[in-house]
Amino acid sequence: MNDSTSAHRAGLFRHIKIAFVETPVAQCTLRLGDGEHLRMGGSVLQCLNLIPGTGDNSRLINNDRPDGHFFLRLGLSSLAQSFPHEVIVTRKIQHFSQAYRVLTEARTRNNPIIVNPSVLACNFAKLEEDCTRIEKAGADWLHLDIMDGHFVDNISFGPPIVETISRFATRPLDTHLMISRPDHYYKRFTPFVHNVTMHVETEVDIAGTLRGIRGEGCTAGLAISPPTPFEKVLPFLDQIDLLLVMTVHPGFGGQTFMPETMEKVHRARQLREERNLKFHIEVDGGINQATAQTAREAGANVFVAGTSIFHAIDPAKTMAELRGAETTGDDIDTQRRERQTK
Ligand code: DX5
Ligand code: ZN
Repeated sequence: MNDSTSAHRAGLFRHIKIAFVETPVAQCTLRLGDGEHLRMGGSVLQCLNLIPGTGDNSRLINNDRPDGHFFLRLGLSSLAQSFPHEVIVTRKIQHFSQAYRVLTEARTRNNPIIVNPSVLACNFAKLEEDCTRIEKAGADWLHLDIMDGHFVDNISFGPPIVETISRFATRPLDTHLMISRPDHYYKRFTPFVHNVTMHVETEVDIAGTLRGIRGEGCTAGLAISPPTPFEKVLPFLDQIDLLLVMTVHPGFGGQTFMPETMEKVHRARQLREERNLKFHIEVDGGINQATAQTAREAGANVFVAGTSIFHAIDPAKTMAELRGAETTGDDIDTQRRERQTK
């Protein structure tokens, strides 16, 4: 198998979870990232993210079999119990993995508003439980804030936590690198996530890094902080899948939305139309029911929200409101007060 074929395969498999079945091993259930199940028989015992090239689930894809089957050889260290070493699956899996991508895109087309809860605001003592609670309440993606204590004055979490999240997450993972060297670190994240966003303020080869991210099978985003002039992103608009307009100074959750950043959202929407481009316009920081409306009107379609979702009494309702459902006055302050008095 030549390099480009294997890289292509690695990309295809990135977001597929194989759910193992008891017996026979040739039967398996594919769980698409959208939470949909495609049943090929058997009962599900364990799900595992396939992460190309990593040690604990390393596998060999042998594509030379005349019968059109290939092998996925999976290490057992990350499995809770013993499974056969070898699972034979048909080529259909490739089609399913492509179907997953199409599904994600279709979801985006039919529902242009994407609610993207920021894991930074979760209860880290209950990482899986809390993220799952929010996924079940209707999150479209999950947003992962990576901070290096250098590009921003805060340190959050890194690849091991991102990998952990990728093992249980059922939604696309959107990674926001607030780090000085995205060019050096992006490959530590791309095996586990769908989108990687870097900042335009970093002093690295931006076009090269965006290309690199896409080359690893992820979509590529570019973020712009409040003080940075919009002109900085202009040369890259045709090379990105997502433009992240920061609506607070990056570094901390729980800050107040800066309305002056809406000018950039406006311009991005205009240019996207004029140039017939396709990137998402994402806003991040201080997004709640009221500011989401402002950002929606300016042209944003992806809403990152930490505090207002994870700390909400009723996150499903909050997310519906971020999408544009009528707000009933249960804003975050009300919810916080309610929580405090309980
Ligand atoms: C800020 C981060 C945000 C943050 C948003 O640097 O990029 O993603 O988690 O948090 P809230 O919604 O609490 O402002
Ligand atoms: Zn963010």
